[in-house]
Amino acid sequence: MRAPHTFSIKNFGCQMNVYDGARMGELLAGEGMTVALEADADLVVLNTCHIRERAVEKVYSDIGRLRRDDGSSPMIAVAGCVAQAEGAEIPLRAREVDIVVGPQAYHNLPALVRQVAGGKRALDLDLPGLEKFGVLPKRARQSGPTAFLTIQEGCDKFCTYCVVPYTRGAEISRPMTAILDEARALIDAGAVEITLLGQNVNAWANDDFGFHDLLIALDKLPGLKRLRYTTSHPNDMTEGLIRAHAEVGKLMPFLHLPVQSGNDRILKVMNRNHTTASYLAVIDRVYAARPDIAVSGDFIVGFPGETEAEFANTLHIVEQVGYAQAYSFKYSSRPGTPAATMADQIAPDVMDERLQRLQSVINAQQMAFNSRHVGTTTEILLERKGRLAGQLIGKTPWLQSVHVTDADAKIGDMIHVHIDSTGPNSLAGRPVTAKELHVA
Ligand code: SAH
Ligand code: SF4
Ligand code: F3S
Repeated sequence: MRAPHTFSIKNFGCQMNVYDGARMGELLAGEGMTVALEADADLVVLNTCHIRERAVEKVYSDIGRLRRDDGSSPMIAVAGCVAQAEGAEIPLRAREVDIVVGPQAYHNLPALVRQVAGGKRALDLDLPGLEKFGVLPKRARQSGPTAFLTIQEGCDKFCTYCVVPYTRGAEISRPMTAILDEARALIDAGAVEITLLGQNVNAWANDDFGFHDLLIALDKLPGLKRLRYTTSHPNDMTEGLIRAHAEVGKLMPFLHLPVQSGNDRILKVMNRNHTTASYLAVIDRVYAARPDIAVSGDFIVGFPGETEAEFANTLHIVEQVGYAQAYSFKYSSRPGTPAATMADQIAPDVMDERLQRLQSVINAQQMAFNSRHVGTTTEILLERKGRLAGQLIGKTPWLQSVHVTDADAKIGDMIHVHIDSTGPNSLAGRPVTAKELHVA
């Protein structure tokens, strides 16, 4: 197979994959390759997710679709969490695949590409921890004003349903200086908002520094306007981090804090290591520190053995917290995880019905949260163009999307808007002039 000149990268799954995809792109560009559409690219990288069965099946159907009309195939690399989990099984199931590379080994992609060009299939599933960060090229010009920054790899929590500890390896935090350097490079490259990433981002610790120290240090960087982080574990919400939500100026009032279930027996079998009471106590302290904070969450319905009454507890905790938004999923049995072999797997139709009930409560809460902002004036960061001519889409501090038309503004600007109305997923606003702002 000839050496590729063009590439395309498709990300599945979480924001950590979006970050990894961006870094692979920078790496391949550094090798002199240019970006192309998937249908034209010499090398196609599928950066995959293993979290639920459906995510995995999507990858295999995508591989099949990469074959060109003339019967040829591009060079295909499967990267990410499916690569780590299924390894050498992948080319057995899909012969078109040339490269299999795990989430901690993709800095070796150029060497793997050369190996394939030399006529051999290539596989790299090493988990060398933070090695990739040391050898990847400097951050490239950002395509928008927001950027992701992975500060931690892996997970040590071993929730019984979850593949992440196996696909991403042991939990390990990057040094503070490396993170600050990368943040400065991102700001130089045009980022004004940085979202810190890790599967347990708030467990970040290095030397004597805790996660809140990192936030305080990042807050001081000139040119940075907004700071966010995701995903957090309830057990790592320290007093210092809660205080940071009151005191760190650039930290946005948004907290994604998954609870998964509102029932203590289920939480125990999930190995979450927290209870509903400890979760609610954290939420109370967070609201006390930052009363306007938007709380988000993740839920799994139909975990093995979940009874109707236990599911009702999940509906109840949603009512108690009052989410600004939340994600909910049907439990998906993952090979190799302890939950996969537990008794009383729940029937799909029961899961469907529970998911619908949960989502209707969450949707109503999201609508209520958005409605509370109608009639207020808030600052948004303009992130991208809207579908209508002249329309721009920005984000509020609470991560709501706002559609606005402002002939004087451009992507990357922060502007004040008056929120006029809300739909289920976004708000509509109009620009407020400096003069109006002063009168208000
Ligand atoms: N580290 C984060 C999230 C990890 S994965 C945390 O602990 O909260 C993102 C979400 O996917 C999880 O919060 C969970 O709700 C969901 N998830 C993970 N494994 C799953 C499975 N086997 N079936 C269904 N949902 C799952
Ligand atoms: Fe998965 Fe649990 Fe780790 Fe989150 S904390 S990544 S759900 S094992
Ligand atoms: Fe999926 Fe891996 Fe992220 S399994 S959710 S891409 S860490």
